[in-house]
Amino acid sequence: MEITRINKFISIVEKFYRENKRGMPWRSDTNAYYVVVSEIMLQQTQVHRVTSKFDSWIKRFPNWHALATASTKDVLEEWSGLGYNRRALFLKRIAEAITDNGKTKGVLPNTIDELTKLPGIGPNTAGSILAFAFNVPRPFIETNIRSVYIHHFFAEIEKVEGKKACKKIDDKEIFPLVEKSLTLVTKKGFFKDNTREWYWALMDYGSFLKKNLPNPSRQSAHHVKQKAFKGSNRELRSKILKLIMKQASTREMVEKQLKKESYKCTRGRIGTNLDALVREGFIMSNINVYRII
Ligand code: ADE
Repeated sequence: MEITRINKFISIVEKFYRENKRGMPWRSDTNAYYVVVSEIMLQQTQVHRVTSKFDSWIKRFPNWHALATASTKDVLEEWSGLGYNRRALFLKRIAEAITDNGKTKGVLPNTIDELTKLPGIGPNTAGSILAFAFNVPRPFIETNIRSVYIHHFFAEIEKVEGKKACKKIDDKEIFPLVEKSLTLVTKKGFFKDNTREWYWALMDYGSFLKKNLPNPSRQSAHHVKQKAFKGSNRELRSKILKLIMKQASTREMVEKQLKKESYKCTRGRIGTNLDALVREGFIMSNINVYRII
């Protein structure tokens, strides 16, 4: 890829960002705790839904220590509405790990290797944490960034084929471009030594493209459409967890309550979900009674 093409791309992103940068609470204060909480929340939830949750979360659990020493019940209660609540447990476990179970204030590590050892943090989330909390330049890809690169560097494929894109683009093809532009952009100019803002700019621009064009990420080999919540196992699992948070129950009690609410599902599915919730550390079972941990 010629450097001139990448430089042109960089100036488009810069222009967009200068005119359209978004304010977010975890951008005005980039302390590591705020960054991790927001990045985990943003993994599967859109910015507008995260914004209001983030503020009440920070009021209730203002720092690592407060989160590490809170009860699982309080943490899940505060998470409610965001979905995929395994992420709430991950956050609590991260807090426990770095505060030595609430004995210290807690300091987040600042290397990829250490960050990816923490629960719920894969290489891309680790990259975003390094950028936003520590301003460390590491290439990573997330959904908005993927959209930007596909739109700018792979759009011809879409046009050549006319109506439908047939070639799926793998992140392996995008990664070298992310890497190259990061190296160039942090050397000089508006984003010099400013990895943090470069990635904010990419995310803001990606989010704009998604809203204003047919989603460029559909061309990605990694694109997955989120399935409907209604009628899904996620819905059943969330109902079961809510019942147990309200009251410790046997499987039969859960069955009865779901029946009362006219929620149709088999006994087997209830059992499977209870087992999974125990395995994942949400609840425990003692003489056939399930309760929150
Ligand atoms: N700003 C910081 N992190 C972000 C994310 N994951 N998505 C969108 N904007 C962000």
